[in-house]
Amino acid sequence: MQVLLIGSGAREHALARALAADPDVSAVHAAPGNPGIAAVAHCVTAAPDPTDGEGMAQLAVDLGVDLVVVGPEGPLVAGVADAVRDRGIACFGPSAQAARLEGSKAFAKEVMAEAGVPTALCHVATTPEQVAAALEATGAPYVVKDDGLAAGKGVVVTDDHERATSHAAACLARPGGTVVVEEFLDGPEISVFCLTDGTTVVPLAPAQDFKRVGDGDTGPNTGGMGAYSPLPWAPDGLVQEVLDRVARPTVELMHRRGTPFTGVLYVGLALTSRGPRVVEFNARFGDPETQAVLARLRTPLAQLLLAAAEGRLAEAPPLAWHDEAAVTVVVASEGYPDAPVTGRPVRGVETASALDDVQVLHAGTGTRDGELVSTGGRVLSVVGTGPDLRTARDRAYAGVACIELEGSHHRTDIAERAAAEETP
Ligand code: AMP
Ligand code: GLY
Repeated sequence: MQVLLIGSGAREHALARALAADPDVSAVHAAPGNPGIAAVAHCVTAAPDPTDGEGMAQLAVDLGVDLVVVGPEGPLVAGVADAVRDRGIACFGPSAQAARLEGSKAFAKEVMAEAGVPTALCHVATTPEQVAAALEATGAPYVVKDDGLAAGKGVVVTDDHERATSHAAACLARPGGTVVVEEFLDGPEISVFCLTDGTTVVPLAPAQDFKRVGDGDTGPNTGGMGAYSPLPWAPDGLVQEVLDRVARPTVELMHRRGTPFTGVLYVGLALTSRGPRVVEFNARFGDPETQAVLARLRTPLAQLLLAAAEGRLAEAPPLAWHDEAAVTVVVASEGYPDAPVTGRPVRGVETASALDDVQVLHAGTGTRDGELVSTGGRVLSVVGTGPDLRTARDRAYAGVACIELEGSHHRTDIAERAAAEETP
């Protein structure tokens, strides 16, 4: 089988590696891909814009692929999966309508309410007066979210009323500006990726993401600074509860509404004292959690995603996992997330990759005069694997220590508490 993978981040690098390792796969094409992906896949030169559905569908036809896998949310919300399926090619990723579970937080909340999914109480506001009333009703800490896609940066959680109000005002100022104000959820957060063909749901191993830029969960939210899997501290039966109370009811409701969801339903949860509550849905694999989860998956990925895309997930054999832990640490550019400085040389990738049980996955990298340079905020994901989290973590950080990028930063506490057998 030939596969076309859309995207260019470290998540896509992890997907490309796993797809290329599937014995059924003869070629992986990536549009646009990145310099790391180029080692395992053919990167399409002059690829269409990732959100150009017709362009991507034509590319899939021209390449003669059997499966298209869409990495990021932008193309999904823009309808790329619809355009590919319209040309008769299997696509792993939801339709634009179904991707609204990620594309609109207000829509996701509506679906959760209708499906009886446990989540934070919320208020949807379109005027400053409604925002003020919602903040009054929830009280501090305030959780204020932009309704639309914002690359993980549309959410402000703060005790400062002034800051909550000004973030809401900035969101309202955007065209069609809508704000979601939520009850604050306390407790560790986890991510569960649920593969679905629209009917059957197959969960992957849970992971934990570190969203804040600084050690100890300080500083602004980012796209994600690191992740690990498995979660030794998680309660027994957690994944089953997520399936029964969240993923299956949501998938069933989307089916009943006539907008079936195919692809990966990313369930972001807070494990509160009153039980798991959904913090967010995404319509695609999480980044950087995927880098840790796929490092542990033994089941051939392309066959699994093709089964999901073709409505055959019920026939797929149970997933097989390596009995190993994986830890991902993101190396970010100076100034990330506010104002990343790019265009600087990135060195040491080969040295890090040569370490045992270390993979270096590319995100914001490019080449200039034959040299690897930074091109984005999150530059690399360094993944360590090992028999336990402590070993996996040590290996990931040994890899990070090899990387030279002026001004770069990373968190030093990824998986630290879990490796010490504490609950985060
Ligand atoms: P979201 O884009 O909805 O995933 O939110 C990004 C991050 O903001 C989450 O991962 C949480 O860390 C935080 N967050 C979102 N909603 C809440 C909430 N209701 N209570 C506490 N923290 C939240
Ligand atoms: N790791 C968070 C996300 O992918 O949205």
